[in-house]
Amino acid sequence: MRVGVLTGGGDCPGLNAVIRAVVRKGVQEYGLEFVGFRDGWRGPLEGDTVPLDIQAVRGILPRGGTILGSSRTNPLKSPGSGARNGIERIKDNLAGLGVDALIAIGGEDTLGVAARLGEQGVPVVGVPKTIDNDLSATDYTFGFDTAVNIAMEAIDRLHTTAESHHRALIVEVMGRHAGWIALHAGLAGGANVILIPERPFDIERVCAYVQHRFQTRFAPIVVVAEGAHPVSEELATSTEMLDSFGHVRLGGIGQLLADEIEKRTGKEARCTVLGHIQRGGTPTAFDRVLATRFGVHAVQAVHEEAFGVMVALRGTDIIRVPLAEATSQLKLVPPQRYAEAEVFFG
Ligand code: F6P
Repeated sequence: MRVGVLTGGGDCPGLNAVIRAVVRKGVQEYGLEFVGFRDGWRGPLEGDTVPLDIQAVRGILPRGGTILGSSRTNPLKSPGSGARNGIERIKDNLAGLGVDALIAIGGEDTLGVAARLGEQGVPVVGVPKTIDNDLSATDYTFGFDTAVNIAMEAIDRLHTTAESHHRALIVEVMGRHAGWIALHAGLAGGANVILIPERPFDIERVCAYVQHRFQTRFAPIVVVAEGAHPVSEELATSTEMLDSFGHVRLGGIGQLLADEIEKRTGKEARCTVLGHIQRGGTPTAFDRVLATRFGVHAVQAVHEEAFGVMVALRGTDIIRVPLAEATSQLKLVPPQRYAEAEVFFG
């Protein structure tokens, strides 16, 4: 069997660990052959491939990013050449390249396309990936632990400089719809305020709390997810730039908060945007192990011809869930998670 592998969407520490596990287990135990597709769905759409064998995956376990490249190409939107739409072009290219099955490693968008391909008869297995940890069918995605540790270390460092200068420091982290990174990094780093998309915040209450922290002689640290927003419309951040899955490019809420805090409290407030630092570099041990287990289980599913599924972590076990179910719902931070913390949530 010849198996195609692709990585789509935002990159994520641990992608290479999945690819390595898939190829090593697939070649050594099942005698499979692999071909890599470049840059997510663009690869199969354009028939752009790269060799993928044991030699190609040597030494990549600790490396961030993805050796296959990634993109947010959406074949469901791509104009067909002649009467052929994106899905048909992919099917033609897979047939032309002699690819019998696909392993798609990605988040909500990439796996949504995989589910559609599966419905149209393409044998496909999904592997969940996102630093945002917002896929409901799996307890954790790899990349999340690395991102949280990077953000936590940044918060640790910001505490000492904030205290020295008697400033409020605002840290903007990733998290479009879900505040998991902000919540975990904020709790682990001892932040004073955590603002997440699931719970619109009241800017007046945030500023009053920041003021109160200053009165008790502590310099406040505010962690804000990029998708967090106030109850009222007064702080608008989104730009009109959309990717091919229709997502607005986010960013800017941290600076807006810093400006507003300065204006309303009269105290100095500065913003640090962690941005892609959270996605780059080497994965933690937790993410390497989870990614490796996902890779092994994905290739096992291919070997058993159990297609149309995504591998997922439930408790400590890796299970298979139908692709359609895997992408149907986002996993948001439930209210009881912030009710049980001692931090101010706006
Ligand atoms: O990987 C998911 C994510 O990290 C989101 O939290 C964030 O909004 C987005 O990627 C940013 O992606 P890009 O690098 O394409 O702007």
